[in-house]
Amino acid sequence: MATDLSKSIIYQIYPTSFYDSNGDGIGDLNGIAQKLDYVKELGADIIWLNPIFVSPFKDGGYDIVDYCNIDKKFGTLQDFDNLIKKAHSLGIKILLDLVIGHTSDQHPWFKASKSDKRNKYSDYYVWTNSIFIGAPKAINGMAKRNGNYLVNYYAFQPALNFGYSSIDNSSDDPWVNNKWQMSYLDERIKPLHNEIHKILEFWFSRGVDGFRVDMTASLIKGGGIEAISWLWHTFIDRVKEKYPDAIFMAEWGYPEQSSKCGFDIDYFTHESIGYNDMFRGDPGTNLLPAFECGHSYFAKEGKGSKKTFIEYTLKLSEELNKGNYYSIASGYHDMIRMSINKNHDLLKCVFAFLLTYKNVPLIYYGDEIGMEHNFKINKDGGYVRTGARTPMQWTDGNKRGFTENNRPYLPVGKQKGISVESQEKDKNSLLNFVKDLIKIRKENDVFGFDAEVLVEMNQEYPLIYVRKLGNKQVYVAINPTNKSYKIDKKLSKIIYINNAEVDSDIRLNKYGIVIGEI
Ligand code: NOJ
Repeated sequence: MATDLSKSIIYQIYPTSFYDSNGDGIGDLNGIAQKLDYVKELGADIIWLNPIFVSPFKDGGYDIVDYCNIDKKFGTLQDFDNLIKKAHSLGIKILLDLVIGHTSDQHPWFKASKSDKRNKYSDYYVWTNSIFIGAPKAINGMAKRNGNYLVNYYAFQPALNFGYSSIDNSSDDPWVNNKWQMSYLDERIKPLHNEIHKILEFWFSRGVDGFRVDMTASLIKGGGIEAISWLWHTFIDRVKEKYPDAIFMAEWGYPEQSSKCGFDIDYFTHESIGYNDMFRGDPGTNLLPAFECGHSYFAKEGKGSKKTFIEYTLKLSEELNKGNYYSIASGYHDMIRMSINKNHDLLKCVFAFLLTYKNVPLIYYGDEIGMEHNFKINKDGGYVRTGARTPMQWTDGNKRGFTENNRPYLPVGKQKGISVESQEKDKNSLLNFVKDLIKIRKENDVFGFDAEVLVEMNQEYPLIYVRKLGNKQVYVAINPTNKSYKIDKKLSKIIYINNAEVDSDIRLNKYGIVIGEI
């Protein structure tokens, strides 16, 4: 039985940048523990932490050398235990990041695997049988061993060997044959499976509530759903036997696939169907230029189209079983910040949608105050992504209340007013808006994932939908443009109104939002 996430709100924290408790300029676990009250007050009940494990940090911690220990810059296992304890006492669950498609090339397993003497770790990674036999994404000449290793992402992230879904051994040509590939069912892969079971047990027995899973689909090479589904069920089913409330969140962006693999939840970002059409498709706003679509829907010009994204999510509503969920991310450590090209009125429209539409909202730290992207920095293999990972802006002060250190590890944002402290004082701030809407979502089951959503598709703007649960129907109208609209609709009770007037009809001024019972 899957965990009920219908009414959850997830908050993603990039640990390097949330709060520095010891003055070394880097965020840490004790810092996160000290700020849990803030997360609680915001209304989130699940936190996902980007990797906190021992790592050379050449890819923001997604290059692990020890899966069962905390990187010392973040603290200790004791700090982690304290964080879990405090989080649980506040009713907050903690998800860690499971990065098992690859390790760092500094991981002891990989160092041993590179050896020309056969050992326990020789088959832990994907090796060709000769350095003269290439393969896509294979690195050659880096090991004493005769063979090339496959990487999963950057060159220093060798792919762990969970095998291939199907193997074509038909060629006799030694230059092209792939006799070095193993089936995903090969007995030689079992020791690696056991390592993963051990890692999972280590963290679940420490009290972790679940994992976000990095590059979920990448583990088995060769594609197809059958093999990868088998593998993830092997891991997840074992965990759930002992920890039935465990939460597994896929990094896939295809809930119709990840749900078949045993995942509870998946999430949409810039790489998912229609996401950029909604939020991030304007030229220059995307990490992946190929995904730019010209006009986002949430843009003052009002020239975008909601069709792709909405039709896709409506189709999912029919296809997914109860207990399978998806999130729409407000941001992500790999994306340019949502605030690009948007003023706070427009960001309120985005959040009105994220918090009332059918999904499990996933808020990236700092998006709730409209933190901005820094395009000038590059650290820890982040490249342009680094700009979304700057320190949380707690105050308007010099170091934004993030650290006492004069040299924060990543530069702090400069924009005054974009801070928790200043927005807490301003009743019209983005932060107070987000808090209010989360409260409304929590108080009204009709906004939960399990309730229906009916979207008005006959016109592009404004965005109108009805959430429906039993006899209760709530109407949502959002105008993410700088034009105004009149809607012939009468509501029986107003739940929320911003930049709009409601009497016998609804007038949505620019960036207007109306939520009310029918
Ligand atoms: C996806 C993560 O979100 C990203 O930050 C990382 O660089 C790659 N996976 C490689 O692990």
